[in-house]
Amino acid sequence: MRIEPWLRRLLYATLATLFATGAVWWWLDEGAAARPTLLALHGLAAMLSLLALGAVAVLHARASWSRRRNRSSGVIVACSLAVLVTTAFALYYAGQETLRDLASLVHLVAGLALPLILLVHISLGIRSRRALDDDDW
Ligand code: HEM
Ligand code: HEM
Repeated sequence: MRIEPWLRRLLYATLATLFATGAVWWWLDEGAAARPTLLALHGLAAMLSLLALGAVAVLHARASWSRRRNRSSGVIVACSLAVLVTTAFALYYAGQETLRDLASLVHLVAGLALPLILLVHISLGIRSRRALDDDDW
């Protein structure tokens, strides 16, 4: 099921902001003046993205799942997002340093990989749409 335009815009805007602020934060030197602002923007985008992802779960993932369309790459997208959200939680609340360092590394790797994972999901999804008859969905 296609994601309706307002939701698609919100999803892309928040995920792009998350990617840009996270990647630039990582690329800058420790102690760089822009780092705290980037992380605050990242946190704001993270909260808004959860709003979008909740709607995507109910409106897009559930409907596509029951139509058996693009299931495997959809599950991979959902799992990557679950890893990102769980490690983000650990970044806030893990007291132990080794656990926090691990969460930081896993979060970064999953975050840098997300655009590619999403791109594969979208192209496979579009291809599966073309394979359908118009009155099939
Ligand atoms: C889209 C790709 C993403 C990238 C490249 C990315 C990257 C990063 C990086 C580099 C950090 C700093 C890690 C550290 O402090 O050691 C971070 C922190 C964080 N990220 Fe992400 N992230 C992404 C997506 C997400 C998502 C989807 C969420 C949650 C919905 C999220 C929530 C957070 C939170 C809450 C923090 C902690 C902020 C703080 O310490 O103030 N990120 N992220
Ligand atoms: C079990 C989970 C999922 C399934 C079965 C699924 C299935 C699909 C299908 C069939 C399409 C092609 C839609 C069309 O154009 O006809 C698609 C596209 C798309 N999916 Fe998913 N998806 C899942 C999870 C997700 C999640 C969690 C996200 C959130 C990031 C997501 C984001 C997108 C986007 C952005 C598109 C392309 C834009 C659009 O269709 O409007 N999907 N997906």
